[in-house]
Amino acid sequence: MGIQAFFRQVIAAIGEADRDGLVSDKGSDVLGGLSGRATVGLLQRLVGLVEDRNSLCYLEIGVFQGLSLLSVAIEHPEFVCFGIDNFSILDPKGENLGIVQDRTRRLKAVNAHLINRDYEAALEHLSEHIGDRKVAVFFIDGAHDYRSQLMALLLIRPYLAERAVVIVDDANYFDVRQSTRDFLVSHPEFKMVFEAYSPGHPANLDDATRETHEAGWLNGVNVLVLDHSNVLPVMLPRVEPLARDLYVNEWLAHRHRYAELAPQALDLAAAALNGGDMATATARLAEAYAKDKPTFDSRLSDRNLHCEGLPERRFTEWK
Ligand SMILES: C[S@@+](CC[C@H](N)C(=O)[O-])C[C@H]1O[C@@H](n2cnc3c(N)ncnc32)[C@H](O)[C@@H]1O
Repeated sequence: MGIQAFFRQVIAAIGEADRDGLVSDKGSDVLGGLSGRATVGLLQRLVGLVEDRNSLCYLEIGVFQGLSLLSVAIEHPEFVCFGIDNFSILDPKGENLGIVQDRTRRLKAVNAHLINRDYEAALEHLSEHIGDRKVAVFFIDGAHDYRSQLMALLLIRPYLAERAVVIVDDANYFDVRQSTRDFLVSHPEFKMVFEAYSPGHPANLDDATRETHEAGWLNGVNVLVLDHSNVLPVMLPRVEPLARDLYVNEWLAHRHRYAELAPQALDLAAAALNGGDMATATARLAEAYAKDKPTFDSRLSDRNLHCEGLPERRFTEWK
């Protein structure tokens, strides 16, 4: 099949997922999670398009309780699927690993393999996990900060199959769109073929609107393909002028003595500015401070560079 026919298949698969959601309700009595049904349905359909089923695989970052990984795996039981998660967030009781293992057993998804590791370490050493397979479908749904999103795109590059499709979840976040755009403009061999957004984060939507988007693309997606022959037009996600200023803020915050306390400090600021519960916000800030008081106290008030021990100068070892 020529590349243009492949692109048409990908676009048709997106249209079908948009209209019909999941490919089937296999596993729906066992699975639940944090991805839209159109998003999961697209992953299932894209894996269905893969021609070389022995040397390629499905890979995702962000397994959570297994919805996306296991939905793909049970729809394509002969196809090898990998999911990376270190269960570092959205797991207050530390139960998600057990839930994934239990659901994998109940669904007999022997082709689903969990890589229980930080995404960056996993991607830097990916062949330890996936062998000499290439990745045909790559789903990014881990930490949604700018750097994690961009690193996921950069680190996967050498492992992608010629006809890879990359699905970036949670594209409603402006940090996510910014990293996708930065990647696309610096890697013009990739093109975006589809974007979808909801009017807000699911947590901020009314029930009816949220349910509509749970059936769809939930918190937004960007879909990218590799287009070496430069057939497709350039299409970039919208970025917000505000973001540039906030990345400058990031520099100011990161060098500050209390950098890690920024979320709690902002909650306290919000309580002070909006007449909220300052006592609770102060207690949370103090609690977070107490967790690593010696580190905070060892720092300067500002311009912490963490450069101790760096060589004054160093040349390459090449001779
Ligand atoms: C939104 S959830 C994924 C939802 C899942 N795809 C589904 O269908 O339900 C995000 C996941 O990313 C994982 N995550 C966050 N930071 C990570 C990191 N640095 N390395 C690996 N996984 C990470 C979290 O533990 C969490 O389970």
